[in-house]
This record gives sequence, structure tokens and C-alpha cells, in this order.
Amino acid sequence: MSNLNSQLITYQQRVDQTLKNFINELPFQNSQLVQAIRYGTLLGGKRVRPCLVYATGEMFNLPLNSLDAAAAAIECMHAYSLIHDDLPAMDNDNYRRGQQSCHIKFSEADAILAGDALQTLAFSILTDKPMPNVTLKDRLAMLSELAQSSGAAGMCAGQSLDIISKNCQISLASLEQIHRNKTGSLIRAAIRIGALAAGKRRKNALLLLDKYAEAIGLAFQVQDDILDIIGETNRIDKQKCFDQQFSKNTYPALLGFDTARIKVKDLYREALLALDSLSVQSYNPKLLYIMTDFIIKRNN
Ligand code: IPE
Ligand code: IPE
Ligand code: MG
Ligand code: MG
Ligand code: MG
Repeated sequence: MSNLNSQLITYQQRVDQTLKNFINELPFQNSQLVQAIRYGTLLGGKRVRPCLVYATGEMFNLPLNSLDAAAAAIECMHAYSLIHDDLPAMDNDNYRRGQQSCHIKFSEADAILAGDALQTLAFSILTDKPMPNVTLKDRLAMLSELAQSSGAAGMCAGQSLDIISKNCQISLASLEQIHRNKTGSLIRAAIRIGALAAGKRRKNALLLLDKYAEAIGLAFQVQDDILDIIGETNRIDKQKCFDQQFSKNTYPALLGFDTARIKVKDLYREALLALDSLSVQSYNPKLLYIMTDFIIKRNN
């Protein structure tokens, strides 16, 4: 996260340390499984979802230690989704974060199991790890949010539709539905979970935060589709033009490159409007403004 402000770097370092600690507590430290978990979680990654948890929590003046467990849990869920996304039966992508994908570095079985274990680790963290000043009721609501957003009502549903629609012509509405589920729902969960940590203080902000999350969640995937085409050639972060080569449905493929860029700008404005409305209600979403800029202007 090179062009990030110092607060976002603090968030990134905090979640990295928390994840390291939790992974170090797992049994069978030298097993293929734990090595694959470590590889798929700790090597690289922008930590956008944990940063959104922290940035949303800070809007309600929550101390960061109330948010550490939630930030780590959502990154575990995300790391699992990426490991499985690259598998031969899904995108069959040999590269991730400038390195070999988990199933190439280890084996397909290791990658499947590392993903499975990361998914359950996310729920163990949310259930068991300290969350100072967060009520059990709110913790339960966080668990429900993470389950809903990552399963058959969210990320998995989107991933399934994405795979099925490969090589098919689909409508813009269908593409938007795929993007909102496969990527948007976990991003929205990060924001909602940050708000859930705030107890009653969150009440008047939830609708506007959802509006913000819908816009930024879709923008994130449209930007990911754009970066697949214009990503820097000197990086092997992902295989360049992977989507086009394998007939994936993307915004640039369906609408053209320029219209996809306009879509990102429109969603950016929509996201900012929601944050402006929160500011009018005397919340201070300063870090969410910074995250919004980062998500739209990132180059990887
Ligand atoms: C990539 O997510 C997959 C999508 C949901 C588009 P990120 O771009 O957040 O991946 P990392 O964690 O930074 O590598
Ligand atoms: C991935 O979308 C979405 C999830 C992992 C849930 P992509 O397949 O476009 O992500 P990249 O481009 O491989 O990171
Ligand atoms: Mg995919
Ligand atoms: Mg992929
Ligand atoms: Mg992509």
C-alpha cells in the first residue's frame, strides 16, 4: 500500500500482526496445511477489507483493539476466497499477489484444505478472540453478517454465477449481480461489521453506510476488471489480460473500456455522496474518504 496515509499503514500493520499471532497459535505448525495457510494469508495483499473495518469503527470513535479480531476474521475469509478462486476448477490462475498461487506452490489438496481451514478460522476468531467493549449480541450479529455475506447468499453465489457465465453472453444486470455478490458482499460485510462493533452508536448511520458499501463494493470489482487489462506489465501480480483470454464476463468486455472507467467514476461519486451525508449527520468518516480514494485510484 505504497501511496497510503499513515493511519491506513497502521491498520495494515495491526491486522498483519494479529493474523500472524492467530496463525502461530494453530497446531501442526510445520504441516503443509499451516504453511499453505501462512502463504495464502500473510504474503502480500492490500488488506482493504480489514482497513474498512477499522475505518468504519473509527468513525464511531472505537478504539482499534475492539476491532482487531473482526479485521483479522474478514481477511481470513477473503484469503480463503482467493485461494479457491485460483484453483483449476475455478479460474485456474497460476499467479496471485506476484507469486505462485497456493495450489501451484503447494498442491491442489493443500490449497482446498487451507481455504477450508481459513474459512472456519474466520468464525473461530469472531467467536473466541477478545473484543473489548463489544456486547455478545453484537458479536453474534457480526457472525451472522460474515456467514450471510460469504456463503450461498453472497460471495459463493457470485462465484458460482461467475463460473457458469464464462463463455456466455450475459446482460449488464446479470454482470452487476455477479459483481455485487462475489466481491461487493464481503466488502459490505467489512463495513457493517465495523459498525456493529459500535453498539447503539451505529443506529442512524447504517442506511448511509450500506449505500456507501454498495457503491464502493461494485466499484472495487469494476476497477479489478480494468486493472486486469491495464495492470503494469512488469508485475506478475496476475496474468495480464487473464479475463479476456479466458472469456470472463467483465465490465470492460461488456461495455467497453471507456464506459467501464466512467462507471467507476460514477460509483466513486455515489460513494462520496453517502459519506458527505454521514458528515452532515456529524459523524466523521475521514478514514473512509481516504479508503474510497485508495480503492478507486489503486494500481493493483
Ligand atoms: C482481489 O481482491 C479479488 C477481488 C475480490 C476482486 P484484492 O484486490 O483485495 O486482493 P488482495 O488481498 O489485495 O491481494
Ligand atoms: C474474485 O474475482 C472474487 C473473489 C475471490 C470472491 P476475480 O477472479 O476477478 O479476482 P482476481 O482477479 O482473480 O483477483
Ligand atoms: Mg474469479
Ligand atoms: Mg480470479
Ligand atoms: Mg479479476
